[in-house]
Amino acid sequence: MTTSVSEAVASRRSIRRFLPDAVDRAVIARVLDKAQRSPSGGNVQPWNATVLAGEPLRRLIDTVTAVIPQGRAAHAPEYDIYPKGLEGAYEARRVGVGEQMYAALQIAREDRAGRMAQFVDNFRGFGAPVLMLVHTPRYMGPPQWSDVGMWLQTVMLLLREEGLDSCPQEAWAVYTPQIRACVAIPDDHIFFCGMAIGHRDPAAPINTFAVARAPLSEVVSFEGF
Ligand SMILES: Cc1cc2nc3c(=O)[nH]c(=O)nc-3n(C[C@H](O)[C@H](O)[C@H](O)COP(=O)(O)O)c2cc1C
Repeated sequence: MTTSVSEAVASRRSIRRFLPDAVDRAVIARVLDKAQRSPSGGNVQPWNATVLAGEPLRRLIDTVTAVIPQGRAAHAPEYDIYPKGLEGAYEARRVGVGEQMYAALQIAREDRAGRMAQFVDNFRGFGAPVLMLVHTPRYMGPPQWSDVGMWLQTVMLLLREEGLDSCPQEAWAVYTPQIRACVAIPDDHIFFCGMAIGHRDPAAPINTFAVARAPLSEVVSFEGF
């Protein structure tokens, strides 16, 4: 049981292999209700979500799985998942976590099929019994997207308190048309990301590899101390 914020932060990681155990709607509702205390500029609370389990989740997975063989031709995200020209330390970190993950799975760099199979597992929610789909009105700007991020982290930490795990998933954004075909997301909202929710498989190497972080000195400077 996670009882401190530090424990919740330290024990949260992106889980990419879930156990099939179901999660009660009441638990998810309790977490989301508490997460309503998340801060947002002007108290706008720009986050919106649809939570899927059971048959609606299976239908979404089937719908997306049907177009995966089309490759990039079927990709239609409504925003740039990464900025064009991501470079330097930022790009190195993005590439780095992938390399750490594939090394843990013993998938070689030249094993494109192996890497693709792992990527495609995104669209089964890594086996999670619950998938939350997150959207916000299109006219919202960077400050409100940042508010959505704060809410997402609040949700993920509260899930830890319930003994649950998660993986935020921008990957779903590439299949926004298929998501819209299955789930009633308003046309004037933009689909941001999914979040797989469930119980981690503690034995899976993909859930235990070390994910590097930049040292504090690289990202924060102090003045006046
Ligand atoms: C908004 C957001 C979207 C993400 N999308 C994906 C995704 O589509 N697939 C995935 O495997 N991981 C995804 N991640 C997880 C990141 O790769 C992960 O947070 C980062 O590598 C740090 O690792 P950690 O979460 O295990 O600490 C996402 C994270 C965030 C915050």
